[in-house]
Amino acid sequence: MSSTTAAAVAGEESAAATGAPTEAGPVELCRGTNGLEKVVLREVRGSSAEVYLYGSHVTSWKDEHGEELLFVSNKAIFKPSKAIRGGIPICFPQFSNFGNLESHGFARNRTWSVETDPPPFPVPTSNRAYTDLILLPTEEDLKIWPHSFEFRLRVALGPGGDLMLTSRIRNTNADGKPFSFTFAYHTYFSISDISEVRVEGLETLDYLDNLKDRARFTEQGDAIVFESELDRIYLGTPSKIAIIDHEKKRTFVVRKGGLPDAVVWNPWDKKAKAMSDFGDDEYKRMVCVEAAAIEKQITLKPGEEWTGKLELSAVPSSYYSGQLDPDRVLQDSTVPEDSIS
Ligand code: BG6
Repeated sequence: MSSTTAAAVAGEESAAATGAPTEAGPVELCRGTNGLEKVVLREVRGSSAEVYLYGSHVTSWKDEHGEELLFVSNKAIFKPSKAIRGGIPICFPQFSNFGNLESHGFARNRTWSVETDPPPFPVPTSNRAYTDLILLPTEEDLKIWPHSFEFRLRVALGPGGDLMLTSRIRNTNADGKPFSFTFAYHTYFSISDISEVRVEGLETLDYLDNLKDRARFTEQGDAIVFESELDRIYLGTPSKIAIIDHEKKRTFVVRKGGLPDAVVWNPWDKKAKAMSDFGDDEYKRMVCVEAAAIEKQITLKPGEEWTGKLELSAVPSSYYSGQLDPDRVLQDSTVPEDSIS
């Protein structure tokens, strides 16, 4: 790592100051698959995360026992300009496939830069393991999406192993024009088996069914279970959603701020076979629950900034389905409630 690059990785100075016991320190910039640059975050209790500069894409989140919590396909392609299949792709400036922009926007297909000194956050990060990345549009990007922006992403690992992503998108148009966008943290969770999983927190809500031309329905079940392909955009969702893995006796808790919608997706067998970067049976080991802003576009005037937050926790399932009490589940959470909404 060159000295410039080392200094550019946020968090490293504070690691030196506190004498972090991990060999490589809490923040390390190194090379991953195909020589692509990645930032590795490590917490003293053993949890870790990896973020590729390509796509600002989180590809790994491990608990303190070193167990991987995110799904990445064995067939994922780590090579521009294909998005990495798995982890947490960032969908911006659009979710899905409209107009002349590529599917889920171009942010996941661009190489971001590490930023040394981003503008301060309203709630400062107290964690040592974090990194700041920035994406600015190129001349080519401006041809397909004619808006100037600054997209800053902070990825942080809490002492308890929680993974926190904060996106800040600013309109820097010099022509006085506003712009609008849709957005998603397209998180792929690693699960024991799709038949063992239920998603709680979305019951009774309306959703748009991507498999039925986005027709609107109301969720009838007391939780979402998976028996076939499912691809839905739940609207006006609560700030906490739980993914309960009975076999693993583990619950993922998704907490989000600024992101009213939630996409739930599993491609099932037929679509799995149609995806070249996804194994035929891998649909059994993953589920996407994506904190998103889709139904109502976000509009920013020049100078305005939007913030969208995601916090992921993995906790032992200590309650039965239907009795979700996210406040109890989250009692060890490291992020204050008011900082997420
Ligand atoms: C989900 C969408 O978010 O992403 C699905 O709801 C889509 O419709 C899936 O198939 C994967 O998209 P992509 O572009 O990464 O293959």
